[in-house]
Amino acid sequence: MRVDVVTIFPDVFPGPLSVGVMGRARDRGLLDLVVWDLRDFTEDRHRSVDDLPYGGGVGMVMKPEPFGRALDAIRAARPETAPRVLLTSPQGERLTQARARALAELPHLVVLCGRYEGVDERVPLALGADEISIGDYVLTGGELAAMVLIEVVARLVPGAVGQRASVADDSFSAGLLDFPQFTRPPEYRGHAVPEVLLSGHHEEIRRWRKREALRRTLGRRPDLIDEEALDDEARVLLAEVRSGAG
Ligand SMILES: C[S@@+](CC[C@H](N)C(=O)[O-])C[C@H]1O[C@@H](n2cnc3c(N)ncnc32)[C@H](O)[C@@H]1O
Repeated sequence: MRVDVVTIFPDVFPGPLSVGVMGRARDRGLLDLVVWDLRDFTEDRHRSVDDLPYGGGVGMVMKPEPFGRALDAIRAARPETAPRVLLTSPQGERLTQARARALAELPHLVVLCGRYEGVDERVPLALGADEISIGDYVLTGGELAAMVLIEVVARLVPGAVGQRASVADDSFSAGLLDFPQFTRPPEYRGHAVPEVLLSGHHEEIRRWRKREALRRTLGRRPDLIDEEALDDEARVLLAEVRSGAG
């Protein structure tokens, strides 16, 4: 997957995308990250990327033309793919695991980072950018949002995370939160690891994990549980959890 990022702060990249799973994905060519400085696409002496808002008011608004020229350059540098263009914005569609899975299927993404009071409305309208939000809160700029977006999507690219199973079992992937995890020591500050995990009994461990994922989701995020989508075993386990039998 190729990802182009357009920002007025190119130096903050790759940042956390240079370490761990993301660093290895980039080393192995699974994620090709290219960062563009928006100011390189300005045409005035001051390299201005922002201007006063029409209608008055506080703050500055990012101009559309530098983003447009940057996109033209990105498209010209890679004419063989038509990239999906995403504008980071708290007003955009919320990033979810399901949306990330769909984006991970695409060969080429462009992520535009806003700043100040935001970006001229003609960027989504005239440049075909889809607005995407990483959550219902306001950051100072799109760079952190872009990093979150890129990491969430790129770890779903086949081969990026060593064992594919570990991505499939993650929270949200199966529509549920992940089951609780334990490692050594067997007892820590009065809290023991559940017996079943020490039993070596694979079938019981599998069932326990499935039940605990349901229990956790029911307790913390009941909105995620779609009973229609559960398999027969999960329905039985959920009934046990609800009745207090499990
Ligand atoms: C201070 S914000 C602008 C907020 C804008 N005035 C509003 O209320 O919608 C500046 C930039 O940060 C980025 N940003 C802020 N919060 C975000 C979020 N939750 N998700 C994605 N990007 C965000 C966007 O690129 C945005 O243009």
